[in-house]
Amino acid sequence: MTRRTVLAAATAWPVRSAFAAPCRTLPFLWGAASSGYQVEGDERAADIRILERVPSTLFREPAGLADDHYRRYREDIALLAWLGFNSFRFSLEWARIEPEKGVISRDALAHYRDVLRCCHEHDLVPCVTYSHFANPAWFAAEGGWEARDAVDRFLRYCDVTSRALGDLIGIAATFNEPDLHKLLLWGRPGEPAGKQAMLSEAARQCGSDRFGYYLSGDPQRVEDRMIAAHRRAIGVIRSGPGQYPLGVTLAMTDDQAVGPPGRRDEKRRYVYENWLVAARESADFVGVQVYTRNLIGPAGIVPTSASSEKTAMGWEFYPDCVEGACRYAASVARLPVVVTENGIATDDDAQRQHYIRSAVAALERARRDGVDIRGYYHWSFLDSYEWSAGYAPHMGLVSVNRAMQARVPKPSAALLAGLKLPGSVCWKLVR
Ligand code: BGC
Repeated sequence: MTRRTVLAAATAWPVRSAFAAPCRTLPFLWGAASSGYQVEGDERAADIRILERVPSTLFREPAGLADDHYRRYREDIALLAWLGFNSFRFSLEWARIEPEKGVISRDALAHYRDVLRCCHEHDLVPCVTYSHFANPAWFAAEGGWEARDAVDRFLRYCDVTSRALGDLIGIAATFNEPDLHKLLLWGRPGEPAGKQAMLSEAARQCGSDRFGYYLSGDPQRVEDRMIAAHRRAIGVIRSGPGQYPLGVTLAMTDDQAVGPPGRRDEKRRYVYENWLVAARESADFVGVQVYTRNLIGPAGIVPTSASSEKTAMGWEFYPDCVEGACRYAASVARLPVVVTENGIATDDDAQRQHYIRSAVAALERARRDGVDIRGYYHWSFLDSYEWSAGYAPHMGLVSVNRAMQARVPKPSAALLAGLKLPGSVCWKLVR
């Protein structure tokens, strides 16, 4: 079966019969990932844009025009397909679709329809994230996820968006890494200095007394709200057009106990468990996003030794993390797993190639042991905006000269595309 016929089968969904659950056939997903705010450029109504610009900002630089992907998506999607991948992960930007509270931009929806169509034209399965960190500024100025009607606002956005786009979506997640705030807080002394000042200035600038973005708020209250939003969003999206696997993606480290596992298990309970259980009860898959490991002893996270190999983010070079994180996520969620992000920040592409070879071998080990993994997405497709770290870390398979907006694939892009796993899977969808 050629790549084209596998994908032709994938677009002939859904197969329904009186006896079978809805089934959608997708290839083993082999792709690269992005998010709107990090690549599209000039996203004026987003909360991050305000945070980047206040005097006490913790962001190294503004995203500005980023990779200008909002205008150049056609050439970018064509490039990804040409490289040999079969899927593109990207996010829909709530701030573009609903730039003012209650005002839906038909232009933005039409734009994302074009992006989705373009993926199909190039035989790429579109893997969509409904919310990847950036929210509309008006949502942040009402308190973000701590606002009284936050869940209802998100549901309305999902309803409008899935009704307009659902027939073209291949697989989707409600949220990207809603557990990240907890992951960053666990075992650490607290919030970074200066965060509160930045949020207060952002609030003032919006004429509000609050400003909630993806790394703020009471972590437990926010988690409760977002889990409620996720569960209900799944119902809303399922009732719209299109039948595609739905899940949530989680920020993870491969947590390894040094000595008794008590503290490691405590971290797992605090950071991931509520989400993994919510996924088990609501979703078709869980997305694992993992870059490195944490060693955890009785006193908490064990600092990595000064001599260990590091990435440009300062994280330990540990591509085997894919194996441990997938095994753990699958065992708790009891769902198929898709590695929705994995990769390395480095200026040395040989180091990236080494990372990729080892990560894919780790993925294969887990699969051989029966872990139901159905895809792998490298983070990232293009060198892009790394949030508070700005443009310094380079995580892309494709380098971007932003002055010229020129793209040059790195050797690691061809390497990873060449490792693509064959075959396709019939996804029985929860309904
Ligand atoms: C996020 C991405 C981010 C990447 C690398 C993940 O936390 O989903 O948006 O760029 O990690 O830092």
